[in-house]
Amino acid sequence: LKRSNFPPDFMFGAASSAYQIEGAHDEGGRKPSIWDTFCHTYPEKIKDHSNGDVAIDSYHRFKEDVKVLKDMGADVYRFSISWPRILPDGRGTPNPDGIAYYNKLIDELIANGIKPFLTLFHWDVPQALEDEYGGFLDRRIVDDFEYYSKVCFEAFGDRVKHWITLNEPSSFTRSGYDSGKNAPGRCSNRAICSAGDSATEPYIVTHNMLLAHARSVKLYREKYQDKQQGEIGITLVTQWMVPYSSSLQDTQSRMRSLDFAYGWFIQPLVHGDYPFIMRAIARERLPHFTEEETDMLMGSYDFIGINYYTARYTQGLPMPPNPVPISYQNDAYVNLLEAKNGVPIGEPTGTWLYSYPQGIHDLLVYTKEYYNNPKIYITENGTCEVDSDVPLDTALNDQLRVKYYKEHLQQVHLAIRKGVNVQGYFCWSLMDNFEWSNGYTMRFGLCYVNYKDDLKRLPKASHEWFTDFLES
Ligand code: GCO
Repeated sequence: LKRSNFPPDFMFGAASSAYQIEGAHDEGGRKPSIWDTFCHTYPEKIKDHSNGDVAIDSYHRFKEDVKVLKDMGADVYRFSISWPRILPDGRGTPNPDGIAYYNKLIDELIANGIKPFLTLFHWDVPQALEDEYGGFLDRRIVDDFEYYSKVCFEAFGDRVKHWITLNEPSSFTRSGYDSGKNAPGRCSNRAICSAGDSATEPYIVTHNMLLAHARSVKLYREKYQDKQQGEIGITLVTQWMVPYSSSLQDTQSRMRSLDFAYGWFIQPLVHGDYPFIMRAIARERLPHFTEEETDMLMGSYDFIGINYYTARYTQGLPMPPNPVPISYQNDAYVNLLEAKNGVPIGEPTGTWLYSYPQGIHDLLVYTKEYYNNPKIYITENGTCEVDSDVPLDTALNDQLRVKYYKEHLQQVHLAIRKGVNVQGYFCWSLMDNFEWSNGYTMRFGLCYVNYKDDLKRLPKASHEWFTDFLES
């Protein structure tokens, strides 16, 4: 497979997110986000009790990062803006130092021929808004997110032509409000704890996220798009689902689990409402859109960003006549399984990650067929190792990652040949970084970051492979 097999304007690059790489948590006027608070309040919830205070220090080393992208021949770089760096209190007067930092990064990228692909929200809600009204649990976040978007469109829109409103709202919802594994650590899953509001909060949070997304897009289209000539979309994620057996129960559970993981987000954007099966099960826990909101949501994207990592088997569970709400995850009445008869669904890489390349192809084709053939960017795809604690030369010779990328790109290519409108592909991630509740124990980078030795960036074999591929 060669680069020249992909369409001529197809963009290749790598992705990152602010809290995972920037560090400088209290520099340049930045105030805490819910991730700072979470890591500092519950260090035991992070595997190595770490946090993003320093991370990989990209705040100071962004030029090195851009050089690594340039060496590789990347067309694009996807990064996110830290909302509390731009608006330390969540709203009000923009922080000039915060704006200046991203201006420097954007200018450096452009000077090196790399297009910025900017994510507005990659999970770091300003703590001030969390304290004031509970962040995404409250409708007021929609106005504040719109204002934050406006500040960014005005500050960066002359140079940034690709905008992503939200990154993986489903992970934010699931891990922040159901399992409590991620910030803000609310756990409404009665099967494992009893904080929060039984199985309802995830639906409210998602609802407000979708509305925040749609308002930001509306603003962009009304006030900025003509002048700035850019595009705007959202990034979603799902595992691919494979029925455990050919029984009716299992095949139906595949559709149901896709609806709960993916349809929950994409269906309102494409067709104006949540999947029917979710309404049937979650009933009054699932909020309604007004007619005006439906209009605002439908078609509120120029592209759909898809993050894909792995797949699961789905096994249907019987649905009781009057289900008791336990957790929104239980609402799908599905067992998600990593293996069948002891055989994993794909080559095991990280703890939750099994390489299943066909899944990216099937998800792309599914999206084309069920959701109006949208323009798509693969905004993340990548893998880590089962064990990251290995000698440096082993870590640098990451053949597992090379294989993962090759096989997944082949499947993306096949999907394009079948008419799926994919126009770009981003590796997750450019560098090893802070992997949320797994701290620094999982490495996803094309470059190794030496946490023990001054955060040196060392290209791995996968970086070399990409360099060759992008030249081909
Ligand atoms: C996301 C992802 C990334 C993770 C990656 C590896 O939200 O975009 O969670 O931030 O680091 O998916 O797990």
